[in-house]
Amino acid sequence: MKISLSTDSLTKVKTDLLALGVRAGQLAKDQGVQQLDKAMGGALLGHAKDEDFKGDAGEVLKVPAGGKVAARWVVLVGLGSGKPSARDAIVVGVRGARAARKHRTLAVAPPIADADGMRAAAEGAVTGAYRYDRYLTGTRKPKGGLTSATVLASGRATKALTSAVAEGKAIGESVNLARDLVNGPPNDVDPPALAEAARVAARASGAKCAVWNKKRIEKENMHLLLAVNRGSSIEPRVAHMIWKPARAKKRVVFVGKGLTFDSGGLCIKPAKSMIDMKCDMAGAATTIGIVAAAAKLKLPIEVHGIIGSTENMNGEDAYRPGDVFPSRDGKTVEIINTDAEGRLVLADVLAYARELDPDYMIDHATLTGACMVALGKWTAGLFSNDKTLDKYYRAAAESVDESYWSMPLTEPLRETLKSDIADLKHTGDSHGGAITAALFLQEFVGRTKWAHCDIAGPAFLDRAHGISPKGGTGFGVATGVAFLKALAAR
Ligand code: BES
Ligand code: MN
Ligand code: ZN
Repeated sequence: MKISLSTDSLTKVKTDLLALGVRAGQLAKDQGVQQLDKAMGGALLGHAKDEDFKGDAGEVLKVPAGGKVAARWVVLVGLGSGKPSARDAIVVGVRGARAARKHRTLAVAPPIADADGMRAAAEGAVTGAYRYDRYLTGTRKPKGGLTSATVLASGRATKALTSAVAEGKAIGESVNLARDLVNGPPNDVDPPALAEAARVAARASGAKCAVWNKKRIEKENMHLLLAVNRGSSIEPRVAHMIWKPARAKKRVVFVGKGLTFDSGGLCIKPAKSMIDMKCDMAGAATTIGIVAAAAKLKLPIEVHGIIGSTENMNGEDAYRPGDVFPSRDGKTVEIINTDAEGRLVLADVLAYARELDPDYMIDHATLTGACMVALGKWTAGLFSNDKTLDKYYRAAAESVDESYWSMPLTEPLRETLKSDIADLKHTGDSHGGAITAALFLQEFVGRTKWAHCDIAGPAFLDRAHGISPKGGTGFGVATGVAFLKALAAR
């Protein structure tokens, strides 16, 4: 989709559909609405009254402009009460793009006129237009769809505003890329395909990428990752993306869980829990999206993205409860439940990532159902061994309206990871399961400042929620990018 900035007025912008936000109860007082309503001979407010549109959050009203203004349709997007924010601009973009599904062109009037508003409106237009239609054929294949969107600047089209629009587009495209990878069926997005997607995303954004095959992974002593891979007939992969600017202020390494399918292994999942397990590579997808966006935005931070990818299957060589394997960093691990595979893959990848001596290391993983029990399906668990990193990450999340909640690394629970015959067992008490999983990961990060994001809930939704679509959401990409941007500005 093409995205550009325009200084056209609300009545003059030539577009199929013009979207603008309205605060609750402010309909008649809104300058933009007044301007359009006047040009439309009272039809806009008339329609709003007929439909009882008040501007509450979630309300959307699509009104034909009747040839009185240059736009063919006007869409009012309810924003609820509160102060206008960048979040509102995303909402107007998303709702506008959704209302424009059957159209070609969209114009978005962001509720805040600064660079943040332009960026957010562009991001919203790109993510709102998202749909996963790769496997639809014939009459089910959507015809048309948005080809271009315009973000309206109320004043001059400055360089800053123009580049903000480009930035919003890049972030939105990264979110959509993550969604595509998560929505892709597991017989298509397998470990080699996921690693290839990382390579393609790196190339397209100006980053580099190295991909390790099974032989190389063996050489690198990632025995825990290899243990999980034993039951699969498909080779594992590790992909390492690198964005390295000429002068970097800091080095940040992102790590992602890339289970392209999690059957549970021998401790097999019931069918109901298995059906969504193509989403178990969402952490990897988020990681790929963040590095691609960082490279496109040419952020002055060295950013790495490392994904560990395999299936968790039940082939004849599958690893068993009771097996003991060494990890990359030498600790031995006794396998308890083969369905707790994500932490094994992450342990080896985190051990490798930490060797890069980063300022910060952040992993994303659909790691535990327990995290969804604790926080609900729309909130990610944030675990960190560093207070400052925890604070920065939450601030970044808040700035893009993604929901994270800080969780404790409860020290006394660590003893539940003690094994009789190995250094560690890999599951602890089922009570506090999200915490014991994080504590297991912590064994492999050393002194590195690290945060673990358990995105089992928000990465994949059974129905659309707010601005997130059903299925893969791309959750975490916007927060990761906001964190890096803030770090660059600090
Ligand atoms: N991939 C799952 C976690 C998950 C559950 C992600 C639901 C998304 C939605 C993970 O590998 C898993 O199976 N975890 C187990 C751990 C347990 C065996 C200790 C769980 O949460 O039940
Ligand atoms: Mn599992
Ligand atoms: Zn899993």
